[in-house]
Amino acid sequence: MARDAWFETVTIAQQRAKKRLPKSVYSSLISASEKGVTVTDNVESFSELGFAPHVIGALEKRDLATTVMGQDIALPVLISPTGVQAVHPDGEVAVARAAAARGTAMGLSSFASKPIEDVIAANDKLFFQVYWLGGRDAIAQRVQRAKDAGAVGLIVTTDWSFSHGRDWGSPKIPEQMDLKTMLRMAPEVLTKPRWLWSFGKTVSPPNLRVPNQGPKGELGPPFFGVYGEWMGTSPPTWEDMAWLRELWGGPFMMKGIIRVDDAKRAVDIGVSAISVSNHGGNNLDGTPAAIRALPAIADAVGSDVEVLLDGGIRRGSDVVKAIALGARAVMIGRAYLWGLAAEGQSGVENVLDILRSGIDSALMGLGKASTRDLAPDDILIPDGFTRALGVPPVS
Ligand SMILES: Cc1cc2nc3c(=O)[nH]c(=O)nc-3n(C[C@H](O)[C@H](O)[C@H](O)COP(=O)(O)O)c2cc1C
Repeated sequence: MARDAWFETVTIAQQRAKKRLPKSVYSSLISASEKGVTVTDNVESFSELGFAPHVIGALEKRDLATTVMGQDIALPVLISPTGVQAVHPDGEVAVARAAAARGTAMGLSSFASKPIEDVIAANDKLFFQVYWLGGRDAIAQRVQRAKDAGAVGLIVTTDWSFSHGRDWGSPKIPEQMDLKTMLRMAPEVLTKPRWLWSFGKTVSPPNLRVPNQGPKGELGPPFFGVYGEWMGTSPPTWEDMAWLRELWGGPFMMKGIIRVDDAKRAVDIGVSAISVSNHGGNNLDGTPAAIRALPAIADAVGSDVEVLLDGGIRRGSDVVKAIALGARAVMIGRAYLWGLAAEGQSGVENVLDILRSGIDSALMGLGKASTRDLAPDDILIPDGFTRALGVPPVS
């Protein structure tokens, strides 16, 4: 990586992404819903948690490695699935290469812009993510394609309720990137020559199709056609989830769990892992930060399934706080998207390096040999911080 390309925090990656991307592309990464209460709480809540470091007692070596859904990973941070659309010409392939270079696994979104076969060629620690979209037969076909491609796990995401309003306005995402659209976007795009040039070099405009929603080897249907189909699909039941788990037959994660009762239902249907998550503040605004809901869920099901967390991770210290409160590992969304937008593959590697070194520093300060040694009493938790959702009141 060129010397001046390196950034030292995720916030700087975000600033760089904002500078590099056309306004509508940048705001589609910010996403979130309604007033943004949840997306803000996801990030800010980590600042309410503190540390109590030792002055003496640091260990010479710290071990960050762990396993998630059967995969050995070098640090407790995974790539959460996101529909990357138009951020960078190499999209998910660049992210997969970066994750492989840093020894971690990746979730690939149903709405990804690259075919799963190309992404797995760059990183074989790949979990394919599905939405409940199109009903059982259509889902079975997509899952079969993921299996044939070599995906080592399935992530199912169901925490989506089609809430589209944002107080700061939603980006106008074009149906397809044709000449007419390019001209309409010209004022914002022409002020971002580097972004435009990155696509110019590939001689193809941003991909607004979703290749993993159709058969292997085809371009895939347009994003909006598929989104409309999703809106028209009957929402899933727990029986559908059990069916999908059975159909997949391998490591299976339910992402988006925020209540203890739902976590227990997930255990009942035999999932391997859950991610405590509110879809990065993109689902119902007003849902508490994932980190607030984590302790009650980890207490209830942590010995039965692998408990992960995603939402608001921007620093290595955030990862350490989440692990101390019961997570096995975390997944990141916007942090790597900003890295990708800022510097492509090396920007994602840079983000993973920032998190790795932040985790290592926190372990050193706390006098821990491994992330496995972290416990709630390593963290200062203010009164009233946590939220136990879906727990019957004690009478
Ligand atoms: C732009 C964007 C697109 C996303 N697309 C998906 C998706 O396709 N599938 C999914 O399961 N989650 C999706 N998510 C949610 C992320 O996987 C993850 O839960 C969230 O980003 C975590 O919060 P963070 O961004 O604060 O790290 C998306 C999030 C963002 C910001």
